[in-house]
Amino acid sequence: MPKELAKLDHLAVGYDKPLISDITTSINSGEIIAILGPSGIGKTTLIRTISGLIAPIEGSVERLVPKRGGLGYIPQRLGLVRHMSVKANVELGARCRTSIWYPAFAPLPRQLRNEVEEAIEKLGIIEHLNDPVRILSGGQQRRVATARALAQKPQIILADEFLGELDDDNVEIVLHIVKEMVRKQGCALVMVEHHEEVARSIADRIWLIEDGKLKEVEP
Ligand SMILES: Nc1ncnc2c1ncn2[C@@H]1O[C@H](COP(=O)(O)OP(=O)(O)OP(=O)(O)O)[C@@H](O)[C@H]1O
Ligand SMILES: [Mg+2]
Repeated sequence: MPKELAKLDHLAVGYDKPLISDITTSINSGEIIAILGPSGIGKTTLIRTISGLIAPIEGSVERLVPKRGGLGYIPQRLGLVRHMSVKANVELGARCRTSIWYPAFAPLPRQLRNEVEEAIEKLGIIEHLNDPVRILSGGQQRRVATARALAQKPQIILADEFLGELDDDNVEIVLHIVKEMVRKQGCALVMVEHHEEVARSIADRIWLIEDGKLKEVEP
């Protein structure tokens, strides 16, 4: 049985005036939702409002996941600590798990360290494990941000164009990994995606943003 993880009720998002208004819908466990729409329409603003980083202009977002670690976010601009290693960045995800709290720089237990390395390995950047993030290519940095979210094991992952700058093979690899995570752990993935075919191939639901409204369409 899918579980409701977030509820959007007559939500309007934006800054001084609404960009998208009257959104009433929910996010459920085990589903992949793709957000489509032109540049500048408000997709990132919607994601950030769902995450709680921006307050709604009207209506509400109810997050029914643990406050700590329940929500994972892969920002469009990644938000990596560029001078720190790939490993240290991905460990930040593991440190944010709901179940545990390891203060920054305290060593992580072996089990968690293994999981961090597994995530990095799966995403094909293990040879950069100890390299500072700033020397990695754009696509490699995107995979670090994805590994960090995987290591956190959140119930909802909000991914803002996390497939950008990846070649076709890497898009396949990353999609396979996140799909597996959604199916196995029953989390939800909400992804902003510019490539309509990619979105339609993976998503269970599509949110199309048009003329200041969210329209749910068939994938
Ligand atoms: N912090 C901010 N303060 C005021 N306006 C903002 C802010 N951030 C974004 N905007 C404006 O809100 C609008 C929507 O921006 P947003 O980043 O949500 O679009 P988007 O759909 O994600 O676009 P893209 O596909 O290019 O990433 C834009 O006109 C942008 O200039
Ligand atoms: Mg955006």
